[in-house]
Amino acid sequence: MSDTILETQGLTKEFRGFLAVQGVNLTIRRGTIHGLIGPNGAGKTTCFNLLTKFLIPTRGKITYDGRDITNMKPAEVARLGLVRSFQISAVFPHLTVLENVRVALQRARGSSFDFWRSDSVLKQFDGRARELLADVGLTEYAELQAGSLPYGRKRALEIATTLALEPTMMLLDEPTAGMTHEDVDRIVTLIKRVSKGRTVLLVEHNLKVVEGLCDNITVLARGEVLAEGDYMAVSRNPDVQAAYLGTDPASVGVPESAAHG
Ligand SMILES: Nc1ncnc2c1ncn2[C@@H]1O[C@H](COP(=O)(O)OP(=O)(O)OP(=O)(O)O)[C@@H](O)[C@H]1O
Ligand SMILES: [Mg+2]
Repeated sequence: MSDTILETQGLTKEFRGFLAVQGVNLTIRRGTIHGLIGPNGAGKTTCFNLLTKFLIPTRGKITYDGRDITNMKPAEVARLGLVRSFQISAVFPHLTVLENVRVALQRARGSSFDFWRSDSVLKQFDGRARELLADVGLTEYAELQAGSLPYGRKRALEIATTLALEPTMMLLDEPTAGMTHEDVDRIVTLIKRVSKGRTVLLVEHNLKVVEGLCDNITVLARGEVLAEGDYMAVSRNPDVQAAYLGTDPASVGVPESAAHG
């Protein structure tokens, strides 16, 4: 097995003449948590959508686990174990928390929405569903309607439904967006736990979260790679500091050390 799980070469996405992502070369090591950061409009989400095949690149090549996936469809790469959170449209608000995970498991094993399946068939997935709920700390919420979960817990449920697909590599786009401090801490612990034995690509604005989780970081700015390295290296990089300070530093949470170091 190669040390690199995902690689892009010259990845480029053009929107009507505007280069949202240009010439991006990414190398993501197997078993690591890799952060993709950068100021607003840097091209992070576009990159993310290119990797999960929700967008087709204008140019460039994407290799996952030794395979050229550049021209594959989202469902095909998901079957290869490259899965984004919310891939399976996540949470059905009218179902219970347990039922949501059960449906995700059933869809992971079967092919599509087999809602005609009897309740007794669905119940076969109960054991695994409860394990996944325990993994994300939702055991006590199992019988609650998903729609009535607090926001942070809903994101945890989305992670559980993603885990139901047994991803080799998970991609998370701003998993802590809009969360309270308490929820952020809980999600960080959760990501750390579920990353065991997997690779994670994390798009994240909260640099405290990035610092706490990421082994390696790629900084994008204006669609291009600005810097790469561990948190210490990128936060001390003058180009990175300038890119962040070019926007509102408070809004991106540049730590003291990065702003003045
Ligand atoms: N479908 C689209 N059509 C045209 N322009 C787009 C499209 N999607 C993104 N863009 C532009 O591409 C650039 C990069 O956007 P993207 O959403 O990838 O940035 P981002 O790094 O995720 O930003 P944020 O931190 O705000 O989420 C932006 O200038 C955006 O306006
Ligand atoms: Mg974005």
